Parts: sequence; C-alpha cells; structure tokens
Amino acid sequence: MLGNFIYSNPTKLYFGTDALKGLHKELPKYGKNVLLVYGGGSIQKNGIYDQVVEILKANGKTIFEDAGVMPNPTVEKLYEGCKRAKDGQVDFILAVGGGSVCDYAKAVSISAHCPTDPWDKYFLRMEDVDNPIIPVGCVLTMVGTGSEMNGGMVITNPESKLKIGHVFGDHVFPKFSILNPVFTFTVPQYQMVAGFFDIMSHILEQYFSGADDNTSDYIMEGLLRSLIHSSKIAVQNPTDYEARSNIMWTATWALNTLVAKGKSTDWMVHMIGQSIGAYTDATHGMTLSAVSMAYYRLIMPYGLDKFKRYAIHVWDVNPTGKTDEQIATEGLDCMEAYMREIGLIMNICELGVTEAMLEGIVKSTFTMNGGYKVLTPDEIMQVLKESM
Ligand code: NZQ
Ligand code: ZN
Repeated sequence: MLGNFIYSNPTKLYFGTDALKGLHKELPKYGKNVLLVYGGGSIQKNGIYDQVVEILKANGKTIFEDAGVMPNPTVEKLYEGCKRAKDGQVDFILAVGGGSVCDYAKAVSISAHCPTDPWDKYFLRMEDVDNPIIPVGCVLTMVGTGSEMNGGMVITNPESKLKIGHVFGDHVFPKFSILNPVFTFTVPQYQMVAGFFDIMSHILEQYFSGADDNTSDYIMEGLLRSLIHSSKIAVQNPTDYEARSNIMWTATWALNTLVAKGKSTDWMVHMIGQSIGAYTDATHGMTLSAVSMAYYRLIMPYGLDKFKRYAIHVWDVNPTGKTDEQIATEGLDCMEAYMREIGLIMNICELGVTEAMLEGIVKSTFTMNGGYKVLTPDEIMQVLKESM
C-alpha cells in the first residue's frame, strides 16, 4: 500500500536542442547580479560558456564568475562561493555543469546568507534552511545525479573525511533547468558511464525496499529498461541523440523525488560510496558500481521476492523450472555482465582504496534502515572486502 505523501516539484524544465533559449524566458525574472558557477573548464572548451555568457549579456546581467568547482565539491570551495555571492550582492546563481556544479550552486544558495557555519548547520546537523535563499537555475552538461530537479547537495570535507549529502525540500530545488542532450556529448567516456551507473543506482536504491506492489516499482522497472537499452547504444556511439536524450530524461526522473513517494527506500550503496569518495575523491558513479554487486548479493536473501521480480521484469530472466533463488541470482548475474559490458569499475582497489582505509570507511558510513537488511559494521566491512 502506498503511504501518505505530498508531491511538489517546482523545477521548470527546458528540454531538447533548443533548450538554452529558455534562459531568455527565465533570466528576466531575477535581479541584475548573476553568479555564474562552473567547473574546471570543460564548458569553455566545448563552447557552452560563450553561448551562456552571450545570453546573460543580452539580458543585461552583471556577471560574477565562480569557476573551478571540482568534482565532489569541498567545504572550502563552498566558503569561497559564499563570499563571492555576498561580495557581489548576487540576486541569482546560474550553474553550468554536472552534478557537482549544480550541487555546489544550491549549497551556496542556502549558505551565502547563513549566519552560522553552513557546514555545521546543513551537513553535520542536517537542519532546514531558515535564512534567505538565492534562487538557482541550472544548465546541465553531464547526466547522472538528478541534481537538476531535486533539493539534494553533497559536500565533501576532506579534513574530517566526510562526504555528506543533504536532501532539502522543494524550497531549495532549482527554479529551472536547461537540459540539452547535445551538451553531454563531450563528457569523457569514463565520466559518462559513471553517470549511467549513478542513474541505475538511484533507481535500484529506491526499488529494493518494501514489499508492496506499487506504481513506483513499475515506473522504475521501465526507467531501468530504458536506461539499459540506451546506455549500451551510447557506449558504442556517444553522439547518438536518441540514446543520450533518453538517458538524460531517465536520469532526471530517477531522482526528482517522484518514484520514492509513498514507499520506503534503501540508499546503503550511496552511503558506502560516499564514504569511499571521502577517502579517495573517486568519481561518484564508480564508487557505487565498485560495491554494488557485493552489496546486492549480500542482501538478496532478505528481499528475495523483489530480486526475483527484478530478474524477470528488468532482465527478462525466464523463471520456468527455476527456484526463486536461482531466478534472483540470474538477475544479478545479468546486471554484473551489463556493468562489465559498459565499462564500469567493479572493485574499490582501482579507485585507490587500500586495506588501511577500510576501518575508517566503515566508521564514516552512515547506516540507513529502509532496505531489506540493516547492515552491521561487520557487514559493511564484508561488502568492502568483497569489493577489493
Ligand atoms: O569540471 P568540468 O570541467 O566541468 O568537468 C567535469 C568533471 O570533470 C566533466 N564534465 C561535465 N560536463 C562535461 C564534462 N566534460 C566534458 N563535457 C561536458 N559536457 O565531468 C566531470 C565530472 O563532473 P561532476 O559534475 O563531478 O559529475 P556528476 O554529475 O557525476 O556529479 C557528481 C557529484 O554529484 C553528487 C556526487 O556525490 C558528486 O559530488 N551527487 C548529487 C546528488 C543530488 N544532488 O541529488 C545525488 C547523487 O547521488 C550524487 O551523490
Ligand atoms: Zn548518486
């Protein structure tokens, strides 16, 4: 049975090859001073920067630049962005980049006018926002996180080895997002497939929880089938518009809060992945792929019915003459073969994890209780060791 819920998603989307024109419609709604947030320079190489700046200028905006947002944005960078936003008396933040840039822009938007330390308030204490928020818009250039249509943001504190995500309500969602699949064509293959698995993991971590037969499960199975189909095409031909556009749309739906409504969720793979990220600064999607098979094989017996359903509905496993366990195992085998086929990292050693780090990674992993099995620290260690 679906639980009670409120659903609201205020982010307006402009999708397709003409999507950037949406900026002309949106920018006039906000004040003159715009903080233009971007990463390490990919948007300058592929020409998106020039297109965006031209539109900002055409709309009479004064641009304050905040470049150099790194993958897995740090708390130090957040403090820097807050200062820039305040010094420039910024009215609006435009993020142009992937999930890191969008997350960071949202973090600056709630932190710039925070009277206390935003890391303590929003990430360590997980409090809600009670200070003014600077509105944010996103031009997405890399697909995976869903940050373009949610209130999530993940900030890393390399000193304390903590990578913490806080998911806020719709008051923190971007006001709009520009989704042009062509903008993602220049993403390097490694990042591209990492993003594909990030999408898959978002869906699976909402799917593998609860025993009800609900609409969300059917939606998620459809999203997974579309993702699997299109990602195989995109890996062979990264400029296949049909595949890349379907993946972009799937990524947004995978984590724009819809499919989690009225049901419980798991999120343990993300918790372990984030902890690995805090220790290694590894690419987010790869921290998930590297531990997923060990995790799902561990919890499969506790959620056997769902794993059986997953095998049949998503991987087309033929159940005839097989036990539930055989069917479920075959589904996971198909998933593993697919992951290897598209080129994902399947062990944490390749991400720079060493034996000496394991204890610390276990300690900084938050334990969630919505999945089929609440993991003990020993079981988290088991997942890590099997993923070495
Ligand atoms: O920095 P630039 O030069 O832009 O290069 C980036 C970066 O090196 C590059 N890139 C992006 N678009 C490109 C491109 N290169 C060429 N052409 C393009 N069009 O790709 C690299 C990775 O970018 P990044 O933004 O870090 O990747 P992603 O989108 O995977 O974001 C990862 C961050 O999002 C967080 C992760 O933890 C991580 O910090 N997440 C946010 C979530 C949310 N808001 O809900 C949920 C996710 O689970 C995730 O945790
Ligand atoms: Zn993710």
